[in-house]
Amino acid sequence: MDAPRDMLAGRVAVVTGSSRGLGFAMARVLGGHGASVVLASRSDADLAAAVDRLRTEGMEASGRRCDMAELADVEALRDEALAHGTLDIWVNNAGASGVYGPTASTPVEDFARVVRTNILGTFHGSRVALPVFLGQGHGDLVNVYGQGDQGPVALQNAYASSKRWVRQFTETLRAETKGSGVRVHGMNPGLVITDMLGSVTSQAGYEQRLGGLQVVVGLWGQTPEVAAQPLLRLVTSDAAEFRDLTKATLVGRGLRSVLTGRLRRRNRMPMNVTVLDAHH
Ligand SMILES: NC(=O)c1ccc[n+]([C@@H]2O[C@H](COP(=O)([O-])OP(=O)(O)OC[C@H]3O[C@@H](n4cnc5c(N)ncnc54)[C@H](OP(=O)(O)O)[C@@H]3O)[C@@H](O)[C@H]2O)c1
Repeated sequence: MDAPRDMLAGRVAVVTGSSRGLGFAMARVLGGHGASVVLASRSDADLAAAVDRLRTEGMEASGRRCDMAELADVEALRDEALAHGTLDIWVNNAGASGVYGPTASTPVEDFARVVRTNILGTFHGSRVALPVFLGQGHGDLVNVYGQGDQGPVALQNAYASSKRWVRQFTETLRAETKGSGVRVHGMNPGLVITDMLGSVTSQAGYEQRLGGLQVVVGLWGQTPEVAAQPLLRLVTSDAAEFRDLTKATLVGRGLRSVLTGRLRRRNRMPMNVTVLDAHH
């Protein structure tokens, strides 16, 4: 049965990294169920287009330019939400992937870029939302996990280890807020067909291995619209975590993809690979 369209009426929700991809779809799910949504990303133009799209669909939406690595930006984002009267839901979705290849030759600045968004950004979002939630005795904080949250992923160490950090950080917040009325959730959306997967940078000599990723996306990838749906259940329940790719979904969806020929059509999902020169 479909969830009532007004089940989040009166609630104000912030979704970070919501100008496109999964974040935009999450904002749309929350807005589509009555929440007033505040979108955020670093690009003003993308943000304005995303807000317009939601408003055209009849949702209450606003946007605020925000780099999650900058605490002052994140505080201003919180204030923008509070200007709507309340703050009930905060989704730390903004994320970045790193250059594909071994850690030993990873560009130092690229590693730092991933850390600034995935780690510092998740901390900043939690650091500004939690005092509001704790003060009012309720609120739903959702942190977005990703590949690597349960173990090592070779050649993607910056991204994967940052997501493992997000998981531990989130579980620690849950322990610290126990009994306060505040709910802290983790969400691993699985493989989502977004720019993050469609536009990849590789160290020289490793780009060939990315072909395998296209096969994997062909088998298990989902549209952002589908991947965002479980957020609704998380923010309306005590569920600690949602994980898309369990053993059962891996087998079931993989089989279905083979049977429906989706695997053979994988070349319809082009991947733009930029190769760094060897002396980078
Ligand atoms: N795609 C997948 O298969 C997949 C799988 C598991 C988990 N995830 C996670 O899901 C989340 C969303 O991923 P996606 O695939 O939708 O990525 P995406 O298409 O690359 O979109 C990322 C969004 O975050 C924003 N952003 C990036 N860095 C930011 C920063 N420092 N401050 C504020 N906004 C920032 C981007 O806008 P600007 O660049 O304009 O700021 C954009 O709106 C990430 O946390 C990712 O790790 C994705």
